[in-house]
Amino acid sequence: MSTQLNINRKPQTVDAAEDTPLLWVLRDTLDMKGTKYGCGIGACGACTVLMDGKPIRSCQTPISQVTGKITTIEGLADNGKLHVLQQTWIDLDVAQCGYCQAGQILAASALLAEKPKPTDADILSAMTGNICRCATYNRIKAAIHQAAGTHTETKGDANVRS
Ligand code: FES
Ligand code: FES
Repeated sequence: MSTQLNINRKPQTVDAAEDTPLLWVLRDTLDMKGTKYGCGIGACGACTVLMDGKPIRSCQTPISQVTGKITTIEGLADNGKLHVLQQTWIDLDVAQCGYCQAGQILAASALLAEKPKPTDADILSAMTGNICRCATYNRIKAAIHQAAGTHTETKGDANVRS
């Protein structure tokens, strides 16, 4: 079956069963490997993409339920200019293995779009569903604050979730 999608500002026609998870379409059909498969059950956030600016779990979203414009990590940059979060992620060397980080950045971008000056509590609330097995949470929090021009309210290496 043919489904019309809008991915990173481009229309895409996809031939796949309507219950196919968006994640598979992104990775296998469209060869966009930036979005990661972690748990496959909506529990880790590695597969996070944006639909009309809101984070969704692409592993749990059949293409029949894709009703808005999708942004993946490949589409976050604008005309080749990195999103401020991507640049800050690089500047602060946030990633360790990197596997979770596309999902983290997209979740953070949705947060900043909604709350340009987030508090620690805002960050914790928005990011809590995005798991990092390398425990980069403190650097993620610092990067979000730096990108937002706010200061980190807590000091030290304590995990943002502790
Ligand atoms: S792979 Fe989708 S939430 Fe884990
Ligand atoms: S950087 Fe390794 S899982 Fe997050």
